Amino acid sequence: MNHFLDIHGTDPAALRQMIEAAGTMKRARGGRPKGAADDSQPLEGRMVALIFEKPSTRTRVSFDVGTRQMGGQTMVLSGSDLQLGHGETIADTARVLSRYVDLIMIRTFDETVLAEMAEYASVPVINGLTDRTHPCQIMADVMTYEEHRGPIAGRKVVWAGDGNNVCASFLHAAGQFGFDFTFAGPPQLDPDAEAVGFARKAGSRVAIERDARAAVQGADLVVTDTWVSMHDSQSSKERRHNMLRPYQVNAALMAEAKPDALFMHCLPAHREEEVTSEVMDGPHSVIWDEAENRLHAQKAIMRWCLGL
Ligand code: CP
Ligand code: NVA
Repeated sequence: MNHFLDIHGTDPAALRQMIEAAGTMKRARGGRPKGAADDSQPLEGRMVALIFEKPSTRTRVSFDVGTRQMGGQTMVLSGSDLQLGHGETIADTARVLSRYVDLIMIRTFDETVLAEMAEYASVPVINGLTDRTHPCQIMADVMTYEEHRGPIAGRKVVWAGDGNNVCASFLHAAGQFGFDFTFAGPPQLDPDAEAVGFARKAGSRVAIERDARAAVQGADLVVTDTWVSMHDSQSSKERRHNMLRPYQVNAALMAEAKPDALFMHCLPAHREEEVTSEVMDGPHSVIWDEAENRLHAQKAIMRWCLGL
């Protein structure tokens, strides 16, 4: 049984196989209507629980649609629907859910909830975002980069802004897929030290820069994310905005990257804050492909988890 908990905890050959499978499944659909079944129905007879303790648009809809395209069924549960927040342990919840469903995807706060769910579930568990990581997103990002520009290995990825959960999964991917990673942001919001250490140990060149313009020189891909994540307190918003303003991705900053550099954002974006509309809607941006590829990448992740 394969859990998909984090990119750095998953075998690199399996990650590569999932990226390839996602592309194959995407091409095989050939643009048919979203509700139409895939030719192959590996999830037929399977039930998938999608648990959300935080809001979601992309993760929720893409897992739901992806499961149905592969012949499976879903149930979407919010944290407050479950007894999770009312005293029943994660371990007991995991044991019970495993008697009803074949696969569990959970979006939660502390990563210990995910770890405990995986430890006690007898079915695979997928990380749909924690305060610390967002591996499904980065699988879609790697797929999107390669769709547009070929192998990501050896490329320079620049992250501008908050060293948050999405940034940590990007660092894990840098180690596993062999690309270089530069973080540009204030020291108070540096990325997870363990993720930096993982990428470096795996042979990726990781740079920490305070100057955004210097950081993006020679970039093949520029990435940013919200300045205030779902787990950050709203009271920190003004302070974070003040620290992060110099790292906004705008046309002037993109002009410092390689001429054919791509721009990505996991979304939801706050236009004119971490990124300008000019960049989001401009020629470097592949954000809509990136969002679409959540669907294809997660279908491959689910199949891998279930060995199908
Ligand atoms: N990028 C992403 O995970 O989006 P949602 O929060 O809408 O799921
Ligand atoms: N860093 C963001 C990502 C949302 C998909 C958050 O955790 O809120």
